Amino acid sequence: MKIFTTKKEVGDYLKQLQANGKTVGFVPTMGALHQGHLSLLAQAKKQTDVVVCSIFVNPTQFNDPEDLEKYPRPIEADILKLEQAGCDVLFNPPVSEMYNGPEEWHLDIGELEHLLEGKFRPGHYQGVTQVVNKLFSIVNPDVAFFGQKDYQQVMVINRMVELLNLPVKIVMCAIEREQDGLAMSSRNIHLSATDRQHALVLYRALQQAKANYVAGHSVEQIEQQASAVIDEEPDTQLEYFEIADGQTLQPATAQSRSLVALVAARVGHTRLIDNVVI
Ligand code: PAJ
Repeated sequence: MKIFTTKKEVGDYLKQLQANGKTVGFVPTMGALHQGHLSLLAQAKKQTDVVVCSIFVNPTQFNDPEDLEKYPRPIEADILKLEQAGCDVLFNPPVSEMYNGPEEWHLDIGELEHLLEGKFRPGHYQGVTQVVNKLFSIVNPDVAFFGQKDYQQVMVINRMVELLNLPVKIVMCAIEREQDGLAMSSRNIHLSATDRQHALVLYRALQQAKANYVAGHSVEQIEQQASAVIDEEPDTQLEYFEIADGQTLQPATAQSRSLVALVAARVGHTRLIDNVVI
């Protein structure tokens, strides 16, 4: 695997491959890689000739300085995992390579900015679009792969691609889970053994919501039932549980063509998110 830390080197290398007719698949990450990230790489390998992964813990998308500071950065272990997964190129820049200093960025992504995650993490999606736009311009991928785990992030990236007319295809990949249902996440390593047990309530509540929907319960009833299940769990603080329109993420209506149940909660000191398409 080739490892680059500068924009120019990775850009030049990939341009040459593209000039020779190779298609480039891109998996942007913040590292601390797990099977969820590797499943995106596997998809990329199936669909494109050259697979590029980036590892960059992007400071502008963290609204909590402590969260940024304690974000795991096991770069040696990550490199090994990428090599084993058959990744062709790793782009792992330092912060100074991506940001010269404070810079202005604002993209009008409409309602998506303030809904769900946006409400609890103000400014988060401005940081995400800022860095993903930079990464896209450096890597110039034909296809980029994102996880359904961050459902709203995929909607935001799709919106950005549409607004800026970017020549990249976005593919959303399914959520990888532990055997007991917990959605894989780089933040799971912060969970104590008891937190880890409590965290299972998220997927349990999502599955119950799906079953209740199939059984004909109303959206309000389902949201109340799911919230109550999570409220009962010790050391677990619900931030939101919502059944939303799968296209707009606005509250579900009778006209919604697809529905998604989304949840965010703090388990101990760790903030977790998960979702299920209904
Ligand atoms: P990160 O949290 O490292 O996630 C990188 C990619 O892996 C995202 O597309 C995320 O949705 C996907 N992913 C995480 N857990 C997953 C799981 N259990 N199953 C499937 N896919 C999963 O998301 C980011 O980084 C950043 O916001 C980034 C897009 C890199 C911009 O900085």
